[in-house]
Amino acid sequence: MTATHLPAKASIAARTRQYILLASLFVIPQDRRARVLQHMDGRYNLFGEEGLNHNMGYWAGDPDSLDEASDALARLLADVGGLRDGARLLDVGCGFGDQDMLWAQEYDLAELVAIDIVEFKVELARQRARAAGLDRVRFDTGTGCRLRYPDSSFDHVFAIESSFHIRTRAAFFAEAFRVLRPGGRLALAEPAPARGVRLSRMAVLMQQTVVATPRENIYDADGYRRELQRAGFTGIEIRSIKDQAFTPFMRYLRRRLTDPVVVGRVNPMVRAMWKGWAERADGQSGMAGEQDYLLVTASRPGS
Ligand SMILES: C[S@@+](CC[C@H](N)C(=O)[O-])C[C@H]1O[C@@H](n2cnc3c(N)ncnc32)[C@H](O)[C@@H]1O
Repeated sequence: MTATHLPAKASIAARTRQYILLASLFVIPQDRRARVLQHMDGRYNLFGEEGLNHNMGYWAGDPDSLDEASDALARLLADVGGLRDGARLLDVGCGFGDQDMLWAQEYDLAELVAIDIVEFKVELARQRARAAGLDRVRFDTGTGCRLRYPDSSFDHVFAIESSFHIRTRAAFFAEAFRVLRPGGRLALAEPAPARGVRLSRMAVLMQQTVVATPRENIYDADGYRRELQRAGFTGIEIRSIKDQAFTPFMRYLRRRLTDPVVVGRVNPMVRAMWKGWAERADGQSGMAGEQDYLLVTASRPGS
């Protein structure tokens, strides 16, 4: 992976553009927020070292960097999702495609289709995969709530930190079920409200605006189980990996946010927001008590 796609420093123009787009998230209606994010160059607000991963990573085994932790999260998902050589995989909300390049390098897949709603990300992911000689990975622009693939066309559907954005996650589950063959598996990893916790109004507002999470998607592990069952999935397993993902990521952020590279690149508003979260993410009270991080797998019945 090369460092060349991560901008070194935000110009005044880039910074101003980010401010305008971020501020607009608070004033425009929920159903238009995704469109705002489509105009944002997400590379400026990443905390990784060289890669363009946009997730909290998996820190079991104490990796040295977020890049390594994100690779570990992709490997974990492949492992719990039962990925095998020869499989057909659909990755939903692929971002800049780092996890897809990893899966394509580590498995001899029959097919890997990765989609994201943001055209700019899809285009850059495509270029990066081509430069890495991974021509067989196909990147499409598209939304997780209306997949344009035939019924039963994949063995696996994966999503890393993207299903909370999709309006709605329930519609995504229904679509994932449809495109999976009988016996196929869905696997996803993402932060979610802690079980039984009623989020503060401020937390809900932040989720709906800056985290671009529709209100309908804000529910805990029990809600995931309910919606997966409603879509027809069985063999549902939901595991908390908060102590290996959310908590160590926040610890990492407390250091990383003062790094001159991050100070130069990441928008000050975004840094301030994460700083507030990272400071309140220790222990079991406040924000730390409100948040969980879930690893979810489920199967379409049949074989
Ligand atoms: C937090 S990023 C995760 C990206 C990538 N999976 C990773 O781990 O680096 C969430 C991604 O979901 C994408 N996304 C948001 N809404 C979507 C939708 N309705 N359908 C598909 N992708 C969506 C965003 O554009 C973004 O790239």
